[in-house]
Amino acid sequence: MNDRSVPTYHNLINGEWVPAASGELFENRNPANSDDLIGRFAKSSRVDAERAIAAAARAYEHWRLVPAPKRADILYRAAQLLVERKERLARDMTREMGKVLEEARGDVQEAIDMAYFMAGEGRRQHGQTAPSELRDKFAMSIRQPIGVCGIITPWNFPMAIPSWKILPALICGDTVVLKPATLTPLSAWNFVTVLEEAGLPPGVLNLVTGGGADVGNALLESPVVSVVSFTGSTEVGRTVSTAAAPTFKKVHLEMGGKNIIVVMDDADLELAVDGCVWGGFGTTGQRCTAASRVAVHRRVYRDFVDRYVGRVRTLTVGDGLDPSVQMGPSVSRGQLETVMHYVGVGKAEGATLAAGGHALDKGAYAKGFFHEPTVFTDVHPQMRIAQEEIFGPVVSVIPFESFDEAVAIANGVEYGLSASIYTRDINLAFRAMRDLHTGLFYVNAPTIGAEIHLPFGGTKNTGNGHREAGEAALDVFSEWKSIYVDFSGRLQRAQIDTE
Ligand code: UN1
Repeated sequence: MNDRSVPTYHNLINGEWVPAASGELFENRNPANSDDLIGRFAKSSRVDAERAIAAAARAYEHWRLVPAPKRADILYRAAQLLVERKERLARDMTREMGKVLEEARGDVQEAIDMAYFMAGEGRRQHGQTAPSELRDKFAMSIRQPIGVCGIITPWNFPMAIPSWKILPALICGDTVVLKPATLTPLSAWNFVTVLEEAGLPPGVLNLVTGGGADVGNALLESPVVSVVSFTGSTEVGRTVSTAAAPTFKKVHLEMGGKNIIVVMDDADLELAVDGCVWGGFGTTGQRCTAASRVAVHRRVYRDFVDRYVGRVRTLTVGDGLDPSVQMGPSVSRGQLETVMHYVGVGKAEGATLAAGGHALDKGAYAKGFFHEPTVFTDVHPQMRIAQEEIFGPVVSVIPFESFDEAVAIANGVEYGLSASIYTRDINLAFRAMRDLHTGLFYVNAPTIGAEIHLPFGGTKNTGNGHREAGEAALDVFSEWKSIYVDFSGRLQRAQIDTE
């Protein structure tokens, strides 16, 4: 490829597109074809992050005073621009991240949905009014913006997840420094460009591309940053939490999953197979909500396994831009190596390799990070492949004898993001809804596919108690202020003066 045709992308700091202070760049390549160099992005360091933080802090003083419905006007315009550009943005995303085009369109759609939803919050952000215990006194609570938000996003939802964090922050009156994953900077750049064109004032949203050790740590350690919102692995989330602790900033973490679909003996098996194929292999298994475990009642186990394995073997793997392809590559060589490593672990642990199990590296696959969709059956719930997040196209099928055993298997992992049950028994469905310890739960649908207007997040080592999306996101990006107005004209002492 003619090198001069490869574009260079800069940071956005204080409304200006600027190179990294060092002038250094990093490459963004297509995981389906590593010869395809998509662009070069600013390889930023701490000094770039600090400039962006300072710009966000200055902009905050103006932005917090803009009426929320006026902030919303910008979000509505951004939503419209995203609608107009959806196809191009989706193509860019597939090229840099690998997910099939249909799913990339869905990713952009999530950002559109979130833009409309959060624009609506411009006219809500409801607080409370309450009676006072004292005469002639008024009591209320209002949401207040928090300040500068450091937002650190992953590569698996390169536009949706930035939108989940940036849009509630903006509507609350906060300003933002975004550090997107180094594997998917173009979708972040595209999203920031849309918001910029929609009319955000300079400094309200800043983009700094580069590594976690430089840019990420600057955000975590800065006393000026009041909130950090991070989506990524539990391992990195722990270091985020620790690095942010000395400055007491609010930390929102959304981390790993080992999600399960429970298939009861009364389930519609074809429906369950559809759900397990989509839940396990959609986005090449690279969703934190992916159904990487499937637990099946022994009475229907053989029947289910035959149908499931049969279907998985027919999945077409390839370049996500090809409309006949159903599963794209892993996002990087490192991710592919993790998948290959876990296939080895599963074999060594004695699970039955029922489908797939090999990297694909011949012919059209030679330049990408492809792997067969892989199913292990007869998996014991304590095996590592049934306990650890793989984040790739590998599913463990676990037999069980009773509903209670299925619940114990479902809850017997360190994560708690998403779970699902396939059954026609309404009583079991409700028991599962109550007893599976996750933040998301589905009945007769797979573990993936959350909609943007409900809270999103998980229990145990998946999160730290916060939720994103929906109205719940406002709790991450705003702070409550309780206000008392005494119009009695005299001193009234709460809890003491009773008359
Ligand atoms: C993620 O995998 O990090 O519910 C997010 C879903 C998508 C979002 C997944 N709407 O699968």
